[in-house]
Amino acid sequence: MAKTFKNFIAGKWVAPATGKYFDNRNPADTRDLIGRFPLSGAADVKRAVASASRAFDGWRRTPAPARGDILRRVGDLLVERKAEISNAMTREMGKVLAETGGDVQEAIDVAYYAASEGRRLFGHTVPSELRNKWAMTIRRPIGVAGLITPFNFPMAIPTWKMFPALLCGNTIVLKPSEDVPHTSTLLVEVLLEAGLPAEVIQLVHGGREVGKALVEHPDVPLISFTGSTATGSFIGETCGRLHKRVSLEMGGKNAMIVMDDADLELALDGVLWGAFGTTGQRCTATSRLLVHRKVHDRFVRMIADRAQDLKLGDGRKDGTEVGPLIHEAARDKVERYVQIGLEEGAELVLGGKRGTGERLKRGWFYKPTIFTGVKPGMRIEQEEIFGPVLSVVRVRSLDEAIRVNNGVAYGLSSSLYTRNVQGAFRVMEELDNGITYVNAPTIGAEAHLPFGGIKATGNGHREVGWQGYDFFSETKVVYVDYSGKLQRAQIDTYAGAPD
Ligand code: UN1
Repeated sequence: MAKTFKNFIAGKWVAPATGKYFDNRNPADTRDLIGRFPLSGAADVKRAVASASRAFDGWRRTPAPARGDILRRVGDLLVERKAEISNAMTREMGKVLAETGGDVQEAIDVAYYAASEGRRLFGHTVPSELRNKWAMTIRRPIGVAGLITPFNFPMAIPTWKMFPALLCGNTIVLKPSEDVPHTSTLLVEVLLEAGLPAEVIQLVHGGREVGKALVEHPDVPLISFTGSTATGSFIGETCGRLHKRVSLEMGGKNAMIVMDDADLELALDGVLWGAFGTTGQRCTATSRLLVHRKVHDRFVRMIADRAQDLKLGDGRKDGTEVGPLIHEAARDKVERYVQIGLEEGAELVLGGKRGTGERLKRGWFYKPTIFTGVKPGMRIEQEEIFGPVLSVVRVRSLDEAIRVNNGVAYGLSSSLYTRNVQGAFRVMEELDNGITYVNAPTIGAEAHLPFGGIKATGNGHREVGWQGYDFFSETKVVYVDYSGKLQRAQIDTYAGAPD
């Protein structure tokens, strides 16, 4: 009998008001039922928001360094439980243990960064234009933060949002992806064990109904979302109407550019990791490869040779290099795009098939897939597939590569392999993305730098790094006039000001 899990609302683990549950299964072997999780509804969200609102006053008055100390303990506990949590994460999400270990490590890094931010959380002091007057900014927490997170980084992405939100003094309602509810349950357990006051965190499992109730709730003034562009657009519209602060991290169609002077062995390792790591299910995945025509044929052969040997399987087994896709709908989507690619006239040089055989037949496996002859504008070149599919475009120059890179709706990550220093510096300025890598693949963001993209990828905010703290705090300006008389800014000017 599989375990039945609960929500965490108002300081207790509780069953959903709906009385409904959903099954959480291992994507590598769907016979393996991890547990039944609450399919919650609007009433559960309402209780969670009420509780988080109650907790806000006490938490915002807790000194930021003390809030940071709790997050440091969270980091310590995650270090202790890293192996156990990685294992649980691979079981429900599918990516290999080295990657789920990296996912937990990212949470640890974010926790320690947040802990140290508790002793900074800087405002500014600025000279006033008038005598005997001070001008400064301070940060204030905002309130209840509604956090909606995706399946592909079951721990890292929730912590990108949770730890800065908490450190800044907000309370939280977390709605994790219904594909990875176990990992977020373990994370909430860790937060409570570290000493977070119980009502500061609420965990509400479920689907669209939960997300919608959270986004529309009048007592949730800020929403942070990572997921699909379609859902993000809906959230953005709703938050715009309700005057909420909203951070959206959505799709990507990231390109790696490989020039004729690149170190091809280095680029080879990069493209294999970028395109097929996490089975391509990253917003930063390398889904386009723009290769200079002089090295195109050779480089494509090199990739196909290595990619065909990548070992598919259960991410918890030694030697597995590529896990399954998250669920049947994800595999259907990949299959649909492979069909589209063929219809558009691209040439399939590898894959294009499900993983088969005794070991793979019960999971959502799909073989690493490579298309060549892809032309800018084709759907497989423009649209996010979120699977192990690499679209290769032949280019004649760096200029053309830059144009093709920028010719998509998204703008998350990009990469250039070259030995030419002029080219390297040019792309820093000219690629329309939030992140550009030189001589590294499109993935590999570090937890202390701002993460995010432009165009249809985001809405101007960045997560983690120092900028993550700007989203989760309100800037307040304070003026103190100790001149003892009325001084009128812009009217009573300082000595020496031009008339
Ligand atoms: C994502 O692509 O969905 O860039 C997040 C990376 C990670 C985060 C990726 N640290 O590799």
